[in-house]
Amino acid sequence: MERLVINGGQPLYGDIDINGAKNAAVAILPATIMASEGKCVIENIPDIEDVNCLERIISELGAEVKVGKNTIEIDSRNLTNTTACTEDVRKMRASYYLDGALLARFKQAKVDLPGGCPIGVRPIDQHIKGFEALGAKVNIEHGAVILKAERLIGANIFFDVVSVGATINVMMAATMAEGVTTLENVAKEPHVVDVANFLNTMGADIKGAGTDVIKVRGVKSLKGCNYSVIPDQIEAGTFMIAAAACGGEVTLTNVIPKHLESISAKLIEAGVTVDEGDDSITIKSTGKLKGVNIKTTPYPGFPTDVQQPMSAMLCVASGRSIITESIWESRFKHLDELKKMGASAKVEGRTAILEGVDKLTGAVVKATDLRAGAAMVIAGLIAEGETEIYNIEHIDRGYPHIEDKFKKLGADIHRIDD
Ligand code: EPU
Repeated sequence: MERLVINGGQPLYGDIDINGAKNAAVAILPATIMASEGKCVIENIPDIEDVNCLERIISELGAEVKVGKNTIEIDSRNLTNTTACTEDVRKMRASYYLDGALLARFKQAKVDLPGGCPIGVRPIDQHIKGFEALGAKVNIEHGAVILKAERLIGANIFFDVVSVGATINVMMAATMAEGVTTLENVAKEPHVVDVANFLNTMGADIKGAGTDVIKVRGVKSLKGCNYSVIPDQIEAGTFMIAAAACGGEVTLTNVIPKHLESISAKLIEAGVTVDEGDDSITIKSTGKLKGVNIKTTPYPGFPTDVQQPMSAMLCVASGRSIITESIWESRFKHLDELKKMGASAKVEGRTAILEGVDKLTGAVVKATDLRAGAAMVIAGLIAEGETEIYNIEHIDRGYPHIEDKFKKLGADIHRIDD
């Protein structure tokens, strides 16, 4: 079984390039199958397991997929299969974007229900509400979502909750509906904007992505294009926090500092120096930090996906930190692992109370989900002695070559496979 072994206590110094955004890439790849003319060439694709999984799924649907270094070429002209019911589809979250993409192009789809990290109940009622409003019949049978529409017709849809997945999925379906669709109470995350930009580059007519209201004027068809995925806000946030927690000076390149403002603000409050460049950000830290309170909210608030890495840092920040997780109800499982390393944490419902301790000590721990895994890596980097992290397949789903990147910054971290 593969594991990461970390000898903690090294400060981090140097430059690190941030990869393309996972949560943009995993929506853009399914969206490529909407092109009935030409090829899509997608650049700045992160080398992660969720992307490998989507490459297999899309090629099994009948697209020609050529994978290069951080680039994928997808030719979906001859794709006719609208059924995606495989283990790969069931094990990842973003496979649900096939629903919107296939429905838009073929007006039908059968896609197994998605999997993903065990961080809470993950309903898709808002996706279904949107598809139905556009005129699709939606049934769930034998674990698959079955979608069928004679025609898709533009509609006004007000989402009950702000959902990244529902916003992107329904926006994709609406790109080829007849007339205008108005989506209200939508998610504004950078990856929502990136997917809208990609769809527009394919020939869609989408306005307002990044605001509370998105307007989609339906077009007859989409064609292939070249596109480069935005930098990963969450990978960047994770490295910023690691540098802050370990101490040292780290410059992240290929980032959009604007997307990182909520994270920068909290790090500054904790006593870290954050210098923004045009497409870089530098973290300078003594490693001696103050506790801060965090509340996760949809963008532009503090991202839930950075809450777990941040809580690892706050374990050793002086005083009390209170974390309120308002997106996912079970996103504190990593705290039990951090307690094995000496953290003082108490969970009450959606709130975690951390009392800063002087140090963490290395232990054998597991990654209970993707971002929990990143939290354990940060904890291992700051802990005294050796930390072994198991179940690192979760980490590989979303962080490309995490150990190589930290090694480059001076960390003592190795992947061991026995
Ligand atoms: N929700 C509903 N109904 C729906 C959809 C969502 O009630 O139909 C609720 C959820 O239960 C949750 C909230 O709305 O309480 C937000 O969920 P959202 O739909 O925004 O989450 P998602 O699309 O399933 C994506 C990311 C997650 C990230 C969330 C929030 C992908 C593939 N996943 O999930 O990323 O936490 O948005 O930003 O884009 C991760 O990368 O580690 C990860 C879990």
